[in-house]
Amino acid sequence: MTRVLAFAGSARRDSLNKKLARAAAMYAREAGAEATFVDLDDYPIPLYHGDLEAASGMPENATKLRELFLAHNALLIASPENNSSITALLKNTIDWLSRDVGDGKGDCSGLAPWRGKVAGLMAASPGAFGGVRALPHLRQVLSTLDVTVLGTQVAVPRAHEAFAADGSIADERVAKSVRALAGAVADASRRLAAAAG
Ligand SMILES: Cc1cc2nc3c(=O)[nH]c(=O)nc-3n(C[C@H](O)[C@H](O)[C@H](O)COP(=O)(O)O)c2cc1C
Repeated sequence: MTRVLAFAGSARRDSLNKKLARAAAMYAREAGAEATFVDLDDYPIPLYHGDLEAASGMPENATKLRELFLAHNALLIASPENNSSITALLKNTIDWLSRDVGDGKGDCSGLAPWRGKVAGLMAASPGAFGGVRALPHLRQVLSTLDVTVLGTQVAVPRAHEAFAADGSIADERVAKSVRALAGAVADASRRLAAAAG
């Protein structure tokens, strides 16, 4: 069974990217996958600091998130665009979850939450470019961690107008591309698992 973890690089309660990630999780379920939406705001973690890590290891919430990542084999990530790149929250989360915790999961346990996963990338912004400038940065970071990032991606411009009051995607063209991306992630993940035996 393909298990997709969907999340956004925003902590904001009314985050447009959380709405996008939630919608993508729903479409992944429609495509036959199990899908979990996780709100990073439920797992606050400090800014990565080498001295903090040396003194007390991985923070408890980062460890909980790591376990969640280990229990899934595909990712749907919606990233806001901050000054043409990904948010500090998203990068900090990735950085903590790429640390080796020496639990024997893989030859380098820092890669264990990432390696072999398929990811679909999305962005939502009230601006005209829809956050698309952040996505190459996210693609590069994830590729470093051995994630297979699909070429297809979704950017939602004027995103404050793209969602209905209940959080669903109101714009049919956006809904269609998110549905296609979620389906492609579920499909690619299944194929990768089958090829790996
Ligand atoms: C520090 C900062 C920088 C931003 N830079 C950009 C940007 O480069 N491009 C853009 O489209 N929006 C930019 N924005 C606006 C965000 O895209 C917008 O606040 C968005 O709604 C945040 O995502 P969220 O709704 O998921 O929280 C910026 C916002 C902040 C706070």
